[in-house]
Amino acid sequence: MTTKTTQQTPSNLLELMAARKNIAPKRLVSPGPDLHQLELIFKAASHAPDHGQLNPWRFITVPDSKRNALGSAFVAALKTRDSTATQEQIDASYSKAFRAPCIVFSTLNLEQSNPQIPKAERLISLGCAIQNMLLMAKSLNIGSGITSGQAVNSKYLRELFSLSELEEGICFINFGTIESEKPNRSRPNPSSFVSSL
Ligand SMILES: Cc1cc2nc3c(=O)[nH]c(=O)nc-3n(C[C@H](O)[C@H](O)[C@H](O)COP(=O)(O)O)c2cc1C
Repeated sequence: MTTKTTQQTPSNLLELMAARKNIAPKRLVSPGPDLHQLELIFKAASHAPDHGQLNPWRFITVPDSKRNALGSAFVAALKTRDSTATQEQIDASYSKAFRAPCIVFSTLNLEQSNPQIPKAERLISLGCAIQNMLLMAKSLNIGSGITSGQAVNSKYLRELFSLSELEEGICFINFGTIESEKPNRSRPNPSSFVSSL
């Protein structure tokens, strides 16, 4: 069975990819994606390649009512890894939970129903899902940025997001309206990363 082709041209697609860039959460303001746009963003994730069709990832949105809990978890993680953290560092850590209008936490699932699909392959699948989400957001004129850091797999975030023993916190994906942005970075020329055997 053949798959229906789309009207997307290679140059359109490349243009969309080139237009996307990482926007720091502090530069993302309201409005964030509405429910329909968020649905499209998650639908885009579902089109990621997935060896063994394990669906080895989950996305968890953070409603405004849980921002306080997320900020407190960031602070608890910071204090645990650095007992000398200053009040300024603690405040900065807490405020990370309040920066973008839409915050989505991504997790990787390492359940072993198919141990032949190792962690690296599952992570690639998650990365593809995230890139699909970022591109869908861009096509909707929504800015996006990824954040990670040492707290993402701390016991405090694991507890808050109810991760199972076989799940790992990977990163946050932040969405919103772009208030300001840095200049485009230069992109590597394919000749620098492609060779022939
Ligand atoms: C898994 C992952 C984690 C990231 N974590 C952070 C982060 O903690 N802080 C940050 O400023 N950028 C983070 N980024 C974004 C990168 O810094 C950004 O993609 C990179 O600078 C390249 O810019 P571009 O996305 O505009 O091409 C992360 C990206 C990935 C893929």
